[in-house]
Amino acid sequence: MIAFVKWLFLLSFPCILCHLYWRFVRPLIFVPKWLKTPRVTLITGASSGLGYAMAIQYARISQILLLFGRDAARLGKLRMECLSISPTLEIELVECDTRNSVLIKERIHKFDEKYNGIDLVIANAGIASGPATLSFEQNARLVTEVNTIGTMNTVLPAIEAFERRGRGQLVLVASIAGLLGVPVFPFYSASKAGLIALAEGLRARLIRTQIRISVVVPGFMETPMIKGRRYIWTLSAPAAARRVIEGAARDDGMICFPRRMGVPIFFWRLLPNWAKDAVAFLIGQRLVEFVG
Ligand SMILES: NC(=O)c1ccc[n+]([C@@H]2O[C@H](COP(=O)([O-])OP(=O)(O)OC[C@H]3O[C@@H](n4cnc5c(N)ncnc54)[C@H](OP(=O)(O)O)[C@@H]3O)[C@@H](O)[C@H]2O)c1
Repeated sequence: MIAFVKWLFLLSFPCILCHLYWRFVRPLIFVPKWLKTPRVTLITGASSGLGYAMAIQYARISQILLLFGRDAARLGKLRMECLSISPTLEIELVECDTRNSVLIKERIHKFDEKYNGIDLVIANAGIASGPATLSFEQNARLVTEVNTIGTMNTVLPAIEAFERRGRGQLVLVASIAGLLGVPVFPFYSASKAGLIALAEGLRARLIRTQIRISVVVPGFMETPMIKGRRYIWTLSAPAAARRVIEGAARDDGMICFPRRMGVPIFFWRLLPNWAKDAVAFLIGQRLVEFVG
């Protein structure tokens, strides 16, 4: 037993040192300035919730904001708020659905030319489900189109533009629901799991370049998406936006919050199949009925 504890201590010590280096020393010395204070920032899904809160906080950091959303009125209101924070800020509003690949590509390339590069692209637009009138299949297709194809429509031209300039940062907004299959929204879980894998793959592929990729894996956030419900450890949108901005500035590969939510998920993933099935049998259907 004592030998086991000794080994555990010996093994954990270098891990803790690496973590401290990564979190505190590396960002100070090795993370370039353009990652900490991006000059040009593009956000999709900026018209609401997390995207809106991030835009307001980037208004203090960036010089040019490119805000994509579907709702012109809310985008207009966001522009006014951002300008009240930073009157010299340049803001471009783009009213578009992320499923429109042609428009998104055209705009990203146009802004890349016009502003001599985009430093940061945050692919944040997403839905948990469609209108209640949709069937299970219609919902599944819509969620996949918006979260998977819509995000891909943003990712591909962004990477193309970054490759041309030789640098850039891409942040994908996934969800903790992508780390485990949620019975209420299985296709939402699948789409977000795909984004986590996509970000990990792209980061590994581009690790030797100046193109940085991160994925945000949030728990519950107080936004219109959760329709006024309060779940366990729900963060406000501004608090969540702060975590994203800090994580992106440190160039963290995975920006996961709240951290304590990671602990039950870690143990859930270690459970044997029979235990997962037993839990699903006891609460799976009840969860579906509760959330509706
Ligand atoms: N809230 C949570 O608890 C939670 C937890 C984990 C992850 N997330 C993720 O966080 C991201 C932001 O969500 P949120 O909580 O801020 O929800 P939200 O308030 O509903 O915002 C979603 C944003 O995405 C936009 N959007 C949705 N479908 C779109 C489409 N087809 N084309 C273009 N834009 C579209 C919305 O535009 P409109 O304003 O026009 O609808 C809105 O701006 C999403 O990717 C979501 O999956 C949320």
